[in-house]
Amino acid sequence: MLSFRKARTTDLEAIYAIEQDRFGMDAFHKRQLYRLIKNEGAQFILASASDVIVGYFILLFRRNSRQARLYSLAVVAGSEGKGLGQQLMVEAEKLALEKKCTLLKLEVRKDNTRAIQLYERNGYNVHATIPEYYKDGQDAMIMRKVLA
Ligand SMILES: CC(C)(COP(=O)(O)OP(=O)(O)OC[C@H]1O[C@@H](n2cnc3c(N)ncnc32)[C@H](O)[C@@H]1OP(=O)(O)O)[C@@H](O)C(=O)NCCC(=O)NCCS
Repeated sequence: MLSFRKARTTDLEAIYAIEQDRFGMDAFHKRQLYRLIKNEGAQFILASASDVIVGYFILLFRRNSRQARLYSLAVVAGSEGKGLGQQLMVEAEKLALEKKCTLLKLEVRKDNTRAIQLYERNGYNVHATIPEYYKDGQDAMIMRKVLA
């Protein structure tokens, strides 16, 4: 059973370690993560099991917009394939709906099969492709879902 809570600045080191491990050269810098934790227009949510952080997601909201952005989603290495990513998605969509958002949008590397499977299974469709979006030249796919 996962529990969810907002990330705090005291979680920064733990989050940064996961971020580097899971995103490598595309990882956010510590300063970016700090800003995201403090950002009032963001929801930086940690998922824990027995008080151990097992993943997180970041949602971005804009004033006067019904569109939310799933800015990041990660499950710790070794805990994949157990449905945690799915539970994070459900929680993210719930939060977006609570904020009265009707559309959720995200970017994903074209070669990130596991993430794409998760998003497709949850009803996300490819809206556009951005060539060479990532540092290594990989394309990004913009996927989105109408929530309500
Ligand atoms: C993408 C990510 C969040 C998925 O988390 P997860 O907990 O493994 O997700 P789930 O267990 O809910 O499974 C999601 C899908 O991954 C696939 N999957 C599961 N185990 C797998 C494995 N061992 N190998 C390959 N794919 C696998 C399955 O297709 C599953 O979909 P299905 O249930 O329809 O079969 C996780 O892999 C992750 O953190 N990756 C690194 C960071 C990242 O890429 N984030 C997304 C950025 S856009």
